[in-house]
Amino acid sequence: MSTAGQHPDTGHGHGHGAHPDHDEVFDREFWENKYRTSDPAALRHEPNPYLLVVAETLTPGRVLDAGCGPGAEAVWLARRGWEVTALDISSVALDHARAIAEQEGPDVAGRITWQQADLTAWTAPADGYDLVCTNYVHALEDIVPRLAAAVRPGGTLLVVDHFDILAVLDPAEWRPIPLEARSRVVAAFDGTEKVLDDRVMAAVRIAPTTP
Ligand SMILES: C[S@@+](CC[C@H](N)C(=O)[O-])C[C@H]1O[C@@H](n2cnc3c(N)ncnc32)[C@H](O)[C@@H]1O
Repeated sequence: MSTAGQHPDTGHGHGHGAHPDHDEVFDREFWENKYRTSDPAALRHEPNPYLLVVAETLTPGRVLDAGCGPGAEAVWLARRGWEVTALDISSVALDHARAIAEQEGPDVAGRITWQQADLTAWTAPADGYDLVCTNYVHALEDIVPRLAAAVRPGGTLLVVDHFDILAVLDPAEWRPIPLEARSRVVAAFDGTEKVLDDRVMAAVRIAPTTP
């Protein structure tokens, strides 16, 4: 699998949007500025390999890509027939992502709904998703419960980063999916290479049994 062009800004710390090593805050302004000052070509990357593993086991339905960034995963999912809601705090990221999707043609672009929202203050819609995925988004302790609420019974939640989703999910309601995470080399915006040691967790929301 090629890792060239994978998203570089991965593996940052959590803690309510603040990096543990310094005081930079990963708020909307940070992300708007990051995408505004990035080379659009460098934003193109391969879709996340763990999403591919999970999604390939599922029948395409409705999916939420939470913190979609430049949209590689949203486009891949739409190509596979998923109806995608691609959400990000950054409208600049969404503009980049929409432009990439439109190059795929109306079938793919037409299956993606772009939504600007802050996941830390986001409320799950009542009609849930078959798959909710999030890759490398901060403040997961605030966000994962909201994402979990957006998964319909029988649907799947996938979180790629260093966060123990099982700590915030009710074990009576969720069945973990065993996934193997491997170290992988990714290309950063500045052209350097970086080794990622992902932690990947997924779980299926157990559908209530009818008596
Ligand atoms: C490291 S990038 C990852 C982007 C994409 N998921 C990927 O793997 O290429 C993190 C993304 O999360 C978005 N993000 C960060 N905090 C967010 C929040 N509170 N609500 C929605 N999106 C957020 C950023 O704008 C950025 O696009």
